Amino acid sequence: MSTETGYLGTLLHAPQRDRLECLPGALLVAGADGAITAVHPAGSPQAAQETSRLEALEALVRLGPGQYLLPGFVDLHVHAPQWPQLGEALDLPLEDWLQRYTFPLEARYADAQFARLQYESLVDGLLANGTTTVMYFGTIHLAATRILADICLRRSQRALIGRVAMDDPDQCPDIYRDVCAEVAERETREFIDYVRGMPGNEGGLIHPVITPRFIPSCTDDLLVRLGALARETGCHVQTHCSESDWEHGYVLQRCGCSDAAALDGFGLLHRRTVLAHGNFISDEDAAILRARGAAVAHCPLSNVYFSDAVFPLRRMLEQGLNVGLGTDVAGGASPSILENARQAVIVSRMLENGVDPRQPRAQRRRPGTRIDALTAFWLATTGGGVALDLPIGQFTPGYQFDAVVVDASAAAGNLRIDANDAPSTVLQKIIYGAGRANIHKVWVANHQVHGPV
Ligand code: GUN
Ligand code: FE
Repeated sequence: MSTETGYLGTLLHAPQRDRLECLPGALLVAGADGAITAVHPAGSPQAAQETSRLEALEALVRLGPGQYLLPGFVDLHVHAPQWPQLGEALDLPLEDWLQRYTFPLEARYADAQFARLQYESLVDGLLANGTTTVMYFGTIHLAATRILADICLRRSQRALIGRVAMDDPDQCPDIYRDVCAEVAERETREFIDYVRGMPGNEGGLIHPVITPRFIPSCTDDLLVRLGALARETGCHVQTHCSESDWEHGYVLQRCGCSDAAALDGFGLLHRRTVLAHGNFISDEDAAILRARGAAVAHCPLSNVYFSDAVFPLRRMLEQGLNVGLGTDVAGGASPSILENARQAVIVSRMLENGVDPRQPRAQRRRPGTRIDALTAFWLATTGGGVALDLPIGQFTPGYQFDAVVVDASAAAGNLRIDANDAPSTVLQKIIYGAGRANIHKVWVANHQVHGPV
């Protein structure tokens, strides 16, 4: 159980996309319910009073020199069963990778013992990387997906989890397919009821998610059923959208329109929908997503291998689309949101400057498409929270206290931060250089989930 706790040290967060707030020597207070109750700047009378009070209660955490308190990272797109597949066969196109490697692996989660082993390791690994909230695809197996929910609850990782629905015999192999749309809908309902009724989940740490894998693997019948279920239950929805030339083209041919328009027609787009990738969405598609309040999970590492293009992130942000970051384990070979944050910067720079030296500079360039480290940090924290419609990702009273201590002086890390560095420099160095070795401690809902106690 958490109790009221104070955290004294340097706070670094991005409550808005273009605003970095750095509060050295501040006192953040979080309550037993996990919510932030106050942030007192250094030198304020309340900071001194509250520090003494909490210290007397032995409820004060003091950050050391070279340590920074950041909001925990939000990963909008993880395929939990693909954890043992990190880095495998990424030279294949998406459709072959799925059929030859991914579906056979996911089929193995019929074995609950295998599922438990993999999912324990996955949740542990993501927490150790500072990821405090994850939106997970499970598999078609109800039992294995319940096990994932149990583990997240026990380890106190904030999680949104879906039992995957996929029933189209044209695209899904016999060994890994829902028997029919009716069964896929029924088991999705069962999973929603299970998560909502889990003892210990009264605070809503774990959310059920309606999860049609993507249009190519689902029949229209199933997509219509899941759209109606989304309306009925108000649950989050996750799926893939306009990821690659092949996938985008498949949907255009089958549905006669883009993924976004088709998903909208099935009733699957609303304020709590997260669409992975979205590389090929048009401005018209983006307008549909904005009208519904749906979000895109930008997966910059995965997109290198499977998307055939760079997501037009900056334009979409400027149009007001909700966007956060996803690792897409295992389309992306790293479970680290920090690594994806820096990759988001890198690919935006490559889009802006172009990549083919044989083209004249003027033709290579797409001016105005780069993002900076601050935007990447915002995407990894506040942006992810907005996408999920949850009060997470920033140090603001009323938001949940999900946080990481980045230790710049960790001997095994690569950070070189100087005491005189400006806050914007510190942030840049963290985004470009921090890794798992620098993630010293992690809390979710004011409950420590990683690091020395
Ligand atoms: N589209 C449908 N399934 C998947 C998947 O597992 N990974 C990726 N990257 N795209 C998908
Ligand atoms: Fe994916």
